[in-house]
Amino acid sequence: MLKLVLPTPKYLDSVKNAIAEYQAHPSPFDIQVVKIMIDAQKDNFKAYFQDVENKRLGIGLPEGYVPNTTLWLIDDDQYIGSFDIRHGLNDYLMQNGGHIAYQIIPSARRKGYVKAGLKLSLDYARKNLGIGKALLTCNFDNVASYRAMISVMRECGGEEISPSIIDGHQEHRVWINTLPK
Ligand SMILES: CC(C)(COP(=O)(O)OP(=O)(O)OC[C@H]1O[C@@H](n2cnc3c(N)ncnc32)[C@H](O)[C@@H]1OP(=O)(O)O)[C@@H](O)C(=O)NCCC(=O)NCCS
Repeated sequence: MLKLVLPTPKYLDSVKNAIAEYQAHPSPFDIQVVKIMIDAQKDNFKAYFQDVENKRLGIGLPEGYVPNTTLWLIDDDQYIGSFDIRHGLNDYLMQNGGHIAYQIIPSARRKGYVKAGLKLSLDYARKNLGIGKALLTCNFDNVASYRAMISVMRECGGEEISPSIIDGHQEHRVWINTLPK
């Protein structure tokens, strides 16, 4: 069964395999929470689980940062990808990043996982964080991500708004209802 879980040592063997995949097939759109997870392997995840929990609780955040919840997408006890839900938006996230970031392991791509994980993330955001509509953004060059967000927006309801121009590139921006229509 497909589910989202808070990071837990229970799935570490599978996560270590995923890290090897991510490292073998890097993409320019790899997300920050996956980079942090890859980095955590260096000291065998010693501080990792406490760090993600602190970010979820908003403890020790740098000035201007919003709390975020990192979730792992698990299918049949295997790590499939990461979803990162920001609990609110600041000026930067309005332009670039939005509420939800995601990444799927290379071997599980093009099987519908991100769309399924996004719908679970929207449900999580509504039930646990009180988010009524979630902003998603992606680089104009990221065709797969854009197709995923448009597809989920059509299914759940929402609207596409004007792209932002940030750091020299354009970002698509889409609002999606967290309560499907
Ligand atoms: C973007 C990403 C999450 C897509 O995950 P995925 O599980 O392969 O996506 P899905 O199988 O759910 O497919 C989503 C849509 O994208 C399309 N798609 C997937 N990969 C594609 C590709 N390489 N080229 C074109 N379209 C693609 C699918 O056909 C589908 O479109 P549809 O709904 O119109 O049929 C994945 O490629 C990834 O992890 N990329 C690196 C990190 C990243 O880009 N994160 C997003 C940052 S904004």
